Amino acid sequence: MNIKKTLRKEVLAKRTHLSESDWKSKSESIANSLLQMDVVNQVNNIASFVDFRNEVSTEAINIWILDKGKSLYLPLIDMSKRSMTFYKVDDLNELIRSDYGIMEPDPQVHKAVDPNSIDLFITPGVAFDPHGYRLGYGGGFYDHLFAGIKNEIPKIALAFDLQCVDELPIEPFDRRITHLVTETGIKTF
Ligand SMILES: Nc1ncnc2c1ncn2[C@@H]1O[C@H](COP(=O)(O)OP(=O)(O)OP(=O)(O)O)[C@@H](O)[C@H]1O
Ligand SMILES: [Mg+2]
Repeated sequence: MNIKKTLRKEVLAKRTHLSESDWKSKSESIANSLLQMDVVNQVNNIASFVDFRNEVSTEAINIWILDKGKSLYLPLIDMSKRSMTFYKVDDLNELIRSDYGIMEPDPQVHKAVDPNSIDLFITPGVAFDPHGYRLGYGGGFYDHLFAGIKNEIPKIALAFDLQCVDELPIEPFDRRITHLVTETGIKTF
């Protein structure tokens, strides 16, 4: 869909212009809000991601999950199979850099899990609308994942306010998130 492509480019270009200090302080606000949410504190099995380029920083979040004694799951994307699998990660130093430069679990070291055993998903994204629809990077990985798990599982996206748009082009397979955390607060859908 070309409208999605254009929108991705526009929003990502805006996000690229965030200064390092803005990226850092906004990411800190987002992490603080997220880590105070009941839905996050109440569960033990949390899927997260490792930020790439100018995504909201998840470093403090991932460390918090491990420090709290909760289980952390991180995604590994297989482009050839067009699939995303979550692996249990106990030590962030064991991640390896993918061909795309993203830090990912190592299938030689980490154990893959059934996404249905995960209590909550913290997700990245490019753009978000006021109804909880998200635009990702175009792989359909999260849409596919969310289609295969129970509808009521919390799906919390992290984004900067500049990634919020009035309207997104929606296709039948696009899945909604349950919460969006930005530097100015939490939206629940
Ligand atoms: N549940 C699904 N089953 C099979 N294919 C799907 C499913 N959901 C999405 N797709 C495929 O994924 C492709 C990309 O979808 P889309 O452009 O919405 O990606 P996206 O939402 O930006 O990516 P992501 O979900 O990884 O964040 C679509 O062309 C669609 O055919
Ligand atoms: Mg989609």
